[in-house]
Amino acid sequence: MSAIFITSTGTDIGKTFVATGLVRHWRGKDQPVDALKPVATGFDAVTSAASDPGLILAALGHPISLDGIDRISPWRYAAPLSPDMASWKEGKAVDFDALVEFCRRAIANHQGTLLIEGIGGVMVPLDDRRTVLDWMAALGIPVLLVAGSYLGSLSHTLTALDALRRRAIAVSAIVLNETPGSTASMADTRATLQRFAGPIPIVTLARGATDLSEIAALL
Ligand SMILES: Nc1ncnc2c1ncn2[C@@H]1O[C@H](COP(=O)(O)OP(=O)(O)OP(=O)(O)O)[C@@H](O)[C@H]1O
Ligand SMILES: [Mg+2]
Repeated sequence: MSAIFITSTGTDIGKTFVATGLVRHWRGKDQPVDALKPVATGFDAVTSAASDPGLILAALGHPISLDGIDRISPWRYAAPLSPDMASWKEGKAVDFDALVEFCRRAIANHQGTLLIEGIGGVMVPLDDRRTVLDWMAALGIPVLLVAGSYLGSLSHTLTALDALRRRAIAVSAIVLNETPGSTASMADTRATLQRFAGPIPIVTLARGATDLSEIAALL
């Protein structure tokens, strides 16, 4: 029974796309799966169906109710900012210890596969002192790193890998998710990335892909 943290090189790179695709993959095989998005910013209850928690609940086949959203995303903020900035605006800081405890409990109790979507990239601040990197290190579960194929992604991805390596966080795989309109070739980007990523497997994901079995097989 595995638990995987889904992180990325930045915001809007494809974490939720990959998380929901994997949930659908395992549900399609009748294998137990759950997914959490513990910290969500830019959250508006009126448009919750389109939010990360809403998309994840839909993929899980659960109704998009306040109870459901509370269960998978207890830390929600309105401002579309990093958690430290969004929570500062609401005077309600992310309680780092409670966040880690929430995830640890879920990891200890889950059946099948548990996916935990982070927020933003690997080093987005959660509060005044801690970033997502501290959160991942505290959980000690392997991560799936989602990267784009845009020009410039190589440096972002290698920087992210270096930060993860320094904290001894295991990377199960890198998903090279196609960036629309990218001038860089997917194949060349992948080949270059593989030279630096050593044994970490890299899976390419095309726009609109629905079959995530190759990624699932690595988790
Ligand atoms: N391979 C893909 N094919 C088609 N659409 C994609 C793909 N990857 C991402 N998208 C779309 O790109 C947008 C950004 O992706 P997504 O929401 O998954 O990013 P994210 O990393 O979860 O962002 P956030 O930091 O806000 O959580 C979404 O509209 C998503 O549906
Ligand atoms: Mg997301």
